[in-house]
Amino acid sequence: MPLVSMRQLLDEAAKGGYGVGAFNVNDMEQIQAIMMAAKQTKSPVIVQASRGARAFAEDLYLFKLIQAAAELNPDIPIAMHQDHGNSFETCRSAIALGYTSVMMDGSLKEDGKTPSTFDENVDVTRRVVDYAHERGVTVEGEIGVLGGVEDGHGAGGSGLEHITDPDQAVEFAERTGVDALAIAIGTSHGAYKFNKKPDGSVLKMDVLIAIHKRLPYTHLVMHGSSSVPKELQDIVNKYGGSLKPTWGVPVEEIQLGIRNGVRKVNVDTDNRLAITGAIRKVFAETPEKFDPRDYMKPAREAMAKVVSERMTEFGQAGHAGDYTPIPISKMAEDYKSGKLDTRPSVAAH
Ligand code: G3H
Ligand code: 13P
Ligand code: ZN
Repeated sequence: MPLVSMRQLLDEAAKGGYGVGAFNVNDMEQIQAIMMAAKQTKSPVIVQASRGARAFAEDLYLFKLIQAAAELNPDIPIAMHQDHGNSFETCRSAIALGYTSVMMDGSLKEDGKTPSTFDENVDVTRRVVDYAHERGVTVEGEIGVLGGVEDGHGAGGSGLEHITDPDQAVEFAERTGVDALAIAIGTSHGAYKFNKKPDGSVLKMDVLIAIHKRLPYTHLVMHGSSSVPKELQDIVNKYGGSLKPTWGVPVEEIQLGIRNGVRKVNVDTDNRLAITGAIRKVFAETPEKFDPRDYMKPAREAMAKVVSERMTEFGQAGHAGDYTPIPISKMAEDYKSGKLDTRPSVAAH
């Protein structure tokens, strides 16, 4: 099956009332882990690559691996997404490669660190939407700023500094026409999100619910959605790691989000922890081993287990065969005719 439009995946998820995990990849084993889980749970899936991942894997290696995944798994709808694009050029180059979806993260300036102004964000996102929709490609925007820094990307801070303002979210959706919108509700990237189990003072699910009520036709995206399970932290630490005690986003909060318009759920850190724990275990228990397959295989299996759990918890499991993929060229026509217009002033009619 060719790569599928992320917009179609999310529209179907909205119809079915479930969420779709968007899992970050950097290499073959991570892609294989996701496909193992998708096959096992019969899930549609979003695979995403950050700018750092594209640089690490030299773009073409990564994209060809995704194409191999699509060819080997004809029954699984796969959307390939640029995570946290920092500029028009990053999104353009992803579309040129064949990505079916891009995130234009205009909440930060092109340096990936400094919060931008609202108008700067609208301008660059609108340009990407025009360019991408003409080619049938989905666009995710971001309003509000997440906390934390990953691979140099992020404004830092706790995640509470730039919570999304619902009025701005509505204006942003109206002025840009994005298909999906990432909002800031107190989560951050990486392992250190909260110093205890989060409650409403630090994880603003009420803001998410308010935004969904006002933007029912825009798919909401939760970034920084790793749950950072204690079991995974413990494995890393047991075999020589030194993670400090930390809390992630409880799965039940993500499920509350899914009941309130969240359709895309970004997870990277949990998979990183699973891989690292599995590799550390092999190194610690069998230091005589040096064949990479001896540790990459358990690492891949550990990641597949986490992904498959999330697919079940987010509700995407069992939905791979629900629909026939719409060709990207048809998506372009539907954007042109206005059929896929999500702007609040238009979508309600
Ligand atoms: O956006 C955060 C993801 O975890 C990707 O991280 O930029 O280190 O590849 P990265
Ligand atoms: P985590 O660091 O919580 O896995 O978030 C990943 C993410 O949001 C990627 O865009
Ligand atoms: Zn993110």
